[in-house]
Amino acid sequence: MSYNLLKGKRGIIFGALDENSIAWKTAERVHEEGGEFVLTNAPIAMRMGQIKQLAEKTGSEIIPADATNLEELENLVAKAQEILGGKLDFVLHSIGMSVNVRKGKHYTDSNYDWTHKGWDVSAVSFHKTMSVLYKQDAMNEWGSIVALTYMAAQRVFPDYNDMADNKAYLESIARSFGYFFGRDKKVRVNTISQSPTPTTAGQGVKGFDGFISYADKMSPLGNATAEDCAAYTVSLFSDLTKRVTLQNLYNDGGFSNMGVSDAVMDAFTKE
Ligand code: NAI
Repeated sequence: MSYNLLKGKRGIIFGALDENSIAWKTAERVHEEGGEFVLTNAPIAMRMGQIKQLAEKTGSEIIPADATNLEELENLVAKAQEILGGKLDFVLHSIGMSVNVRKGKHYTDSNYDWTHKGWDVSAVSFHKTMSVLYKQDAMNEWGSIVALTYMAAQRVFPDYNDMADNKAYLESIARSFGYFFGRDKKVRVNTISQSPTPTTAGQGVKGFDGFISYADKMSPLGNATAEDCAAYTVSLFSDLTKRVTLQNLYNDGGFSNMGVSDAVMDAFTKE
């Protein structure tokens, strides 16, 4: 069901790789709600991905950009405003990658070149994106910027590896940059902390199947899906959340406030 919540709003959506991507579901939902946007991803990911289908479906253009590369981000933000015909109202940062996770390197034995690369892609890219948006004065007043994160930023999930540290850094950037964006441009900046979700990035985490079903059994409402995340993001892009900023917002079926659930206890209780 569409409420036209984003009618007349323009933006950029990072990170749609394939139809499982949270950014993909968000692009579809933003389109349904009347928003217009440019899609972007790293050039290499676009060769692998199916982003063109999404662009056709949503009437969007694609501008490749490696989110760690300032020149490419500058080009993206300038071109997006040209294509969309004005300043932006929303930006979704839906980017994550750890080389240590990909290559199965244990947290206690990190390869620090890989740590650095993953940190740049997963966390600093958010700072770079906001810095370019800020310097180009590319956001309309009461615009909204959202990045996606995971609760391993606050609590220990051993197999999440250095992504836990990257997410903690990302959430801190949201607050620190969000202050200046709010004060100077009246733009809000938030992170959504999402349940484990079966996507390319998600499934890269060791033991993902156990991880996702544990979270589901711990959460009174069950895991939030990618579609749920898309809907929550739409609400944060809409005018209904104008003064929500500097927040890390859980979209997790209640997981983050649970100690234990009956379903999990049952697995440990012998009759
Ligand atoms: P995904 O694999 O579909 O999306 C990750 C995206 O990051 C891909 O489109 C990839 O091409 C892009 N990317 C990687 N390096 C890049 C670069 N240098 N420049 C530009 N883009 C680059 O997976 P998913 O799950 O949709 O991930 C989206 C976000 O959601 C990530 O921040 C992830 O950490 C976060 N998240 C995912 C959860 C999950 O369980 N899947 C749970 C909580 C948060």
